[in-house]
Amino acid sequence: YHLQQTKAEKVKLAKNMAFVFDIDGVLVHGDRLIPEGKQVLDILNGNNELGIKIPHIFLTNGSGKPEQARVKQLSSILQNPISTDQFIQSHTPMRALAEYYSTVLVVGGEGYKCREVAEQYGFKDIIVPNDIVAWDPSIAPYRVFTDAERATSRPRDFTKVNIEAIMVFSDSRDYATDMQIIMDLLRSENGRLGTVAKDPVSQRIPIYFSQGDLLCPTEHPTPRMSQGAFRIGLEAMYKALTGVDLERVVYGKPELATYKYADEVIASWMDSLHGEERIPENVYMIGDNPASDIVGGNMYGWNTCLVRTGVFQGGENDEENPANFGVFTNVLEAIKTAMRKEL
Ligand code: G3P
Ligand code: MG
Repeated sequence: YHLQQTKAEKVKLAKNMAFVFDIDGVLVHGDRLIPEGKQVLDILNGNNELGIKIPHIFLTNGSGKPEQARVKQLSSILQNPISTDQFIQSHTPMRALAEYYSTVLVVGGEGYKCREVAEQYGFKDIIVPNDIVAWDPSIAPYRVFTDAERATSRPRDFTKVNIEAIMVFSDSRDYATDMQIIMDLLRSENGRLGTVAKDPVSQRIPIYFSQGDLLCPTEHPTPRMSQGAFRIGLEAMYKALTGVDLERVVYGKPELATYKYADEVIASWMDSLHGEERIPENVYMIGDNPASDIVGGNMYGWNTCLVRTGVFQGGENDEENPANFGVFTNVLEAIKTAMRKEL
């Protein structure tokens, strides 16, 4: 009886905790599995002493393909089921913007995948930079536009279209073209190409970025520039050309809006798993990047765990943004320590 009582107690405690995982540098490196990542998901999906599922969601600054496609790829690498209902990538919360804007310029990513993402989010009229280059190649003087790109783009007379907002969803594959087109639109009258507004502020269309990471680790020996660097370049150019600061909105970790969105996802995932729509008291964020995962988690009141399998290469803890629950060799050590504490 006593043992059963203990188990019931533990189940109750287990229902009062949840994990939030960063993906790159914690569970995988690109397409390569970090073996402890699979072990962790096995445990949280029920292979534990209680035999119950422990709620966990994924919160990544990654981007560039529809949620369904990314989740499918991750499930196969991690050999565990992952639902889109427990998955947030940098641009996921931007789906809410489809209610406010219908004609948008979507920037970044491979091929036309971000057009597909925007379609799924419910944006009605989606334009990508290639559509504009196909209409008027002189807009990007040094761009070499291939026949294949021309065949897959959707040109029309953009002097007759008001683009209502700019959405940078993923890393630009061509800074020169994308920056030129974005700058033309920011300086236009209400997003109409071919015009230049007299007042740079009152007629300026809004610009949104899906995340703010300056650098991103890749197979190259030193990290490569990411969306944050692209944005800073645009801000500096805009200021130099117009004399005014560019207002912009940034999503992703460590921005507050993204953590609030994560809370909603945790609550509804709790509902799917345990039939209780609420946020557990003990939320643990496991990340490898002190400047995004850890600083954001600390500000939001989560327990933060920093792992050594990704961006962080430092000593005992990060000096600027120390993880409040500790630094761990890998994700398995982190969740074992958290579960020992809570259960
Ligand atoms: O920097 C973009 C992306 O690769 C980071 O992914 O999962 O570490 O937030 P993640
Ligand atoms: Mg990471």
